[in-house]
Amino acid sequence: MTLLEKFLLSILFLLPLTQIINLFQQGALPLYILITIVVCICCYFFTLYLIKETMPLLLKAGIQGRDLHKPGTDPIPESIGIVSGPMYLGCVILLQIVYQIKLSEFNAGITSICFMVLLGFMDDVLNVRWRVKIYLSFVSILPLIVAYSGSTYVLIPKFVKIVFSTAHTAIDIGIFYKIFVTFFSVFCTNSINILAGVNGLEVGQSIVIGVAVLVLNLLRLNPNDASMDQEYARFSILLILPFLAVSFAVLKFNWCPAKVFVGDTYTYFSGMVLAVVAVIGHFPEMLALFFIPQILNFLFSLPQLLGFFPMSRHRLPKLNQKTGKLAGQKQHHNLINFWLRIVGPKTEKMLCIHILVFQAVCCVAAFGIRYLYREFL
Ligand code: UD1
Ligand code: MG
Repeated sequence: MTLLEKFLLSILFLLPLTQIINLFQQGALPLYILITIVVCICCYFFTLYLIKETMPLLLKAGIQGRDLHKPGTDPIPESIGIVSGPMYLGCVILLQIVYQIKLSEFNAGITSICFMVLLGFMDDVLNVRWRVKIYLSFVSILPLIVAYSGSTYVLIPKFVKIVFSTAHTAIDIGIFYKIFVTFFSVFCTNSINILAGVNGLEVGQSIVIGVAVLVLNLLRLNPNDASMDQEYARFSILLILPFLAVSFAVLKFNWCPAKVFVGDTYTYFSGMVLAVVAVIGHFPEMLALFFIPQILNFLFSLPQLLGFFPMSRHRLPKLNQKTGKLAGQKQHHNLINFWLRIVGPKTEKMLCIHILVFQAVCCVAAFGIRYLYREFL
């Protein structure tokens, strides 16, 4: 790793770390976070070990792919999500046993994630048509939606209260809340999968969003608050820390030059974990803000996804073999090609760093929007 990459990675660690130290100083850091961190560090090293062991097995089974930006190289193992997914589930179930979590949503969330890992692996092995993937994503989120018994209220902005001169602070949108959450979860799982094609990008964006989710929930912790909100923040932290542990292990092998591809097993798994955490933690609107790059990429892609323009199997930038840089392609309507056409050709690693920095900027902006909304709107 270069100095710049190490610097950017350490910022990702420092953000939650400063909040953890802050909570320690206030005496507000519960013991469960420390135990969870220790379990997750073990999970990280175990995942690293298992990835190494699984790589030759995937190659032997023919589950492999060619790195399209490195012509002439041998195929490398694909679908390493088949290690990170089950490792994550094992770690979460272990924590659930330790903390005796009996919330039905928690179990339903685990079922949805499990379903999604299965679907992702099925896609990697069988190359399922994308319409079928969308239907199956709807089925995967159903266990959580059926079990969801939490609030379906949304806050009314201050200016709306003034305009309609109402004293209500929130409105119950009932079934529409569940419909929104269902569609949004399907969006999460598929949108990470299509902001892809550059080494480290799928897992990198998932980590940046995961860190933002962790910071958000650490900020929610308040020892003087006895409401259910604290439980939701606690569950979110328990669900996101193991996700970061397995994702960092995957990143170590997927960072440019990649030794493994994450496969759709990982992209679907990560999208579903983030959606489940947001539903159980009651912050889907904040997650939507963290997903701004994925929303932009989806909007750019929509004309091709809907068939208004022809779409090839891969919508990747073009490699200039002399310079080793990637250039944006006009016929591919997505964020990475659009970005390269603005900033000019970049190496694969630099392009990935650019998109990840943009992702981080969007997450910081999301916190800004939340603050402004609470203070003024
Ligand atoms: C999505 C994108 C597709 C993009 C692909 C890359 C849409 C609708 N689909 O398809 O345009 O090309 O992801 O993952 O936007 N690969 C690399 N380098 C990487 C990652 C992947 O060369 O860093 C190649 C490898 O050949 C690998 C293949 O992409 O085998 C994996 O593609 P897959 O994840 O199956 O593609 P989709 O998710 O269907
Ligand atoms: Mg994919």
